[in-house]
Amino acid sequence: MKKYIYILLSILLMEGYVYADNAKKTVSSPDGRINVVFAVNNEGRPYYNVSFKDEPIIGNSFIAFRFKKAHELKNHIQMIDAQTRSVNEKWSRKWGPTIEVADHYNMLSVQLQEESRLGRRFNIIFKVYDNGLGFRYEFPEQKNLKDVQIMDEQTEFQLTGDNSCWWTPGDWDSYEHLYSHTKFSKIDDTPYLRDALISSYIPDIKAVSTPITMKTKEGTYLSFHEANLANYAGMTLSCNAEALKMTSALVAWEDGVKVKTKTPFVTPWRTIQISESPAGLIESNLIENLNDECKIEDTDWIHPQKYIGLWWAMHIGQYDWEMENNNHGTTTERSKEYIDFASKNGIESLLIEGWNDQHVEWIKNERKTIFDWVTAYPDFNFQEVVDYARSKGVKIIGQHETNGMVGNYMRDIDKAYDYFNQLGIETVKSGYVGQIIPATHYQQGQWMVENYRTALEKAAKHKLMLFVHETIKPTGLCRTYPNLMAEEAARGQEFNAWGKPGNNPSHTLILPFTRMLAGTMDFTPGIFDIKLEKYRENNQIPTTLAKQLALFVVFYSPVQMAADIIENYENNPAFQFIRDVPVDWDAQKVVNAEIGEYVTIARKEKGTKNWALGSITNESAREFDIPLSFLNDGITYSAFIYADGKDASWDKNPLDYSIHCERVTNQTVLKVKLAKGGGQAIYFKAME
Ligand code: NOJ
Ligand code: CA
Repeated sequence: MKKYIYILLSILLMEGYVYADNAKKTVSSPDGRINVVFAVNNEGRPYYNVSFKDEPIIGNSFIAFRFKKAHELKNHIQMIDAQTRSVNEKWSRKWGPTIEVADHYNMLSVQLQEESRLGRRFNIIFKVYDNGLGFRYEFPEQKNLKDVQIMDEQTEFQLTGDNSCWWTPGDWDSYEHLYSHTKFSKIDDTPYLRDALISSYIPDIKAVSTPITMKTKEGTYLSFHEANLANYAGMTLSCNAEALKMTSALVAWEDGVKVKTKTPFVTPWRTIQISESPAGLIESNLIENLNDECKIEDTDWIHPQKYIGLWWAMHIGQYDWEMENNNHGTTTERSKEYIDFASKNGIESLLIEGWNDQHVEWIKNERKTIFDWVTAYPDFNFQEVVDYARSKGVKIIGQHETNGMVGNYMRDIDKAYDYFNQLGIETVKSGYVGQIIPATHYQQGQWMVENYRTALEKAAKHKLMLFVHETIKPTGLCRTYPNLMAEEAARGQEFNAWGKPGNNPSHTLILPFTRMLAGTMDFTPGIFDIKLEKYRENNQIPTTLAKQLALFVVFYSPVQMAADIIENYENNPAFQFIRDVPVDWDAQKVVNAEIGEYVTIARKEKGTKNWALGSITNESAREFDIPLSFLNDGITYSAFIYADGKDASWDKNPLDYSIHCERVTNQTVLKVKLAKGGGQAIYFKAME
């Protein structure tokens, strides 16, 4: 991966020993609008605060660590030394909404030491960008701190008002909750809808998962998360309504310890995105910037892809995952039909899921079966399917459902990856449904953080692209391992198949400003049979058909599933958009955005002059005048417009859509009309 280093690393400040009572350091963003102060108060307690455009947005926030069998690091800490430097670099990525990424920040490193006899040391590093900041702790190797058992990291985030928040509960197992939108002080007053969650554990503390996104009363947008989560526990944020304060609350091991490690070690970055607009949140690269450079030397084998699969058929009950009731979906013959369809329609890949007995009990959340990842059902011949796919120019994505049996999976993973290598499979969809076995672990705890990373590193060694369902929240690891194409780690389309309850119309309007700030999601758009009448009662997808198309553009991901069964695509003219829409882009423009309300994004197809646009709304109908100024200069485009029909609405008339073609240029202002719960998708083909 190419890296362009443009400017110097300049040491701006170097100071000697600084005593606690007068210790204060500041660092600002390159544009000077974000200011961070780090200080130690008279009791020797370290704290920081943040202001944006001269207004405080994070008040004095203290930091402390509690350990097992060791005194806490909280008071009587002194600042030993501090340095600042400026960095302005660029790096490029294999895939992403843009290919070049600016990494431009000012950094403050502070060395701290407790005044007591033990003299334990740690550092805090701030990187301040124009659109937010990250900070992390470093614990160097030292005599009086070797084996470390962290009982609590207490990093505070002191809010300066009762901000309006989009949040999900601090669940240690599931990230598949619907979002709530409340004032900060009302977090937890909303009951969580847990019915459809296959596993969930919410400890008895009032906490939220990250990213949590907020709007201040002055109109500034903030989003709190973490970057480069490695050898550490996932972080939730406990919320103190009276004090308007969040404090990091790490996911625990069974014995209550949060992190088991040894010095030297670093924590993940604690991140705060700051923006004047919701669009700015989407355009930020803060999380990836705070991850390590790409560790895969040759990335030629990594490629974005559009895929189909029998997946939805099994979720709606057309077929089964298992063979028990003679209605098994993934047979050799049916897979070949899907391959024919993919080949005919220029869809790169087919997901093969339900090919082995790993699925028998996932729905019931019982794990009696001992299965491997190399033995297929008798009615499915993997080699024959892969060979047939190859002859038709289609690639196969193989699924590894672990059923949460992580101990077994990690024991067999090399064998399982080897098997896919032998078959010539390039991509794995893995899944961790249900409670983690051994049952002493949580999805978001340190043990799982490490297992997910090991599975990813091993996939890289096997030259396998990976997208992972359930799983830990993304924290930007795809920069280091770009074979990590996407994660689920949120409530995806599958809940609309189950409907217990399904998602609501505004869910898709919250995801881009919360979960998707952390990384790409395998949401699986493209359901055309919105009403599901044949398979379900009172269980309708909460969008219009046109909105399903728009999601392919609004939700950036290098793996995009056209999720419906192929019968629903055959002979439907709207499928032309799915054929045309790219999965590999090199520029994006967020045209308009309001969290939970609407969002319009335009993206440029990589290496071409073609563009696409997606616009979606919540329950409210809307009309926008959209200047097409993002289109390339001097080019006339054919705009293929897939719009909500005149009488469309997500609940009453979701299938009403229209298609027409217009000639446009970057001077055109387009009127875009969205129905209630609707959307619009446009493919702009450059006419040379
Ligand atoms: C849950 C996953 O999210 C889904 O995609 C998968 O089909 C099922 N588990 C079964 O593996
Ligand atoms: Ca899932």
